[in-house]
Amino acid sequence: MEKKNIDWGSLGFGYMATDKRYVSNFKDGKWDDGALIDDPNIVMNECAGVLQYSQSVFEGLKAYETEDGHIVCFRPDLNASRMADSAARLEMPVFPEDRFVEAVKQVVLANEAWVPPYGSGATLYIRPYMFGSNPVIGVKPADEYQFRILVTPVGPYFKGGAKPIKIKIADYDRAAPRGTGHIKAGLNYAMSLHAIVEAHKQGFAENLYPDSRTRTLVEETGGANIIFVKGNKFITVKSPTILPSITRRSLEYVAEKYLGMEVEEREIPLTELPEFEEAGLCGTAAVISPVGMIVNGDQEIAFPSGMEQMGPKIQKLYDTLTGIQMGRLEAPEGWICKIK
Ligand code: PLP
Ligand code: COI
Repeated sequence: MEKKNIDWGSLGFGYMATDKRYVSNFKDGKWDDGALIDDPNIVMNECAGVLQYSQSVFEGLKAYETEDGHIVCFRPDLNASRMADSAARLEMPVFPEDRFVEAVKQVVLANEAWVPPYGSGATLYIRPYMFGSNPVIGVKPADEYQFRILVTPVGPYFKGGAKPIKIKIADYDRAAPRGTGHIKAGLNYAMSLHAIVEAHKQGFAENLYPDSRTRTLVEETGGANIIFVKGNKFITVKSPTILPSITRRSLEYVAEKYLGMEVEEREIPLTELPEFEEAGLCGTAAVISPVGMIVNGDQEIAFPSGMEQMGPKIQKLYDTLTGIQMGRLEAPEGWICKIK
């Protein structure tokens, strides 16, 4: 299989249409058989539920070429089950979880030439998504839906890759206490756009949202969970209003079982931030992006790991996680889904 002629090492996190995408339609109460198609464009009615009331959910995972030349993806069963939770919360039908995993495999295989080579620094980003497709004008769930998966080769999510970023405590709220913060719905990202544009203008890479109810606890950023290191402790946020990151849950296991760290998943008050030694954002797109500084109003919290490189413990977590994903280290049972 000849790879596409792409300068893999200089890819950013962007979209590029590849050869094939997967589509399945839900109509009259059932999903059709699904198929791989060529056309990257979607034609739908002007009044489609997704266009009027934003009824859409999505997922994100990656395919990797391993050191020994296989193609794998990482824990796709967890993306399937999270998408089922997201769909249920928005009154959408669930795309069967076993079919989700099969469709991921099919679409990656059909775009094998787009899977970045091992060691290139790039990966194939996989974006499953679903939306209400029939006309809806009164506020109610659609009756018809489309489930699709597109793939696109990507490089680092944040410019500079492994260089620490500076983030700010958001001026806005992300997730209401009984809202939709825990699911992966387009609406959560639409409402973060104004905040991210403002943060970028002010020189920050991301917003760190506090909890909306008290604005005293750390939650997560617009597109990643946050992780901290203090001594031998790996500390993450416990909150019902953050997205349950698959990367973060995996890192908790890696920290304990591979690196012998003590893992704490708990509430983290903003006032504790200055006590941490290292911080990072974790997610499929972000992998682990080190955070060098968090700015809260006029308070600057600079972590001892600095603005030049990842702290030593975050580096170990990064090396171990990516080692597992790319086949350099033995993975826990069931984490690696072999595609080829
Ligand atoms: N939090 C938010 C808001 C996200 O958009 C993402 C990205 O998927 C994550 C966290 C990280 O989740 P995961 O590690 O499952 O990709
Ligand atoms: C991912 O990490 O897969 C996401 O969906 C985050 C998004 C902000 C790119």
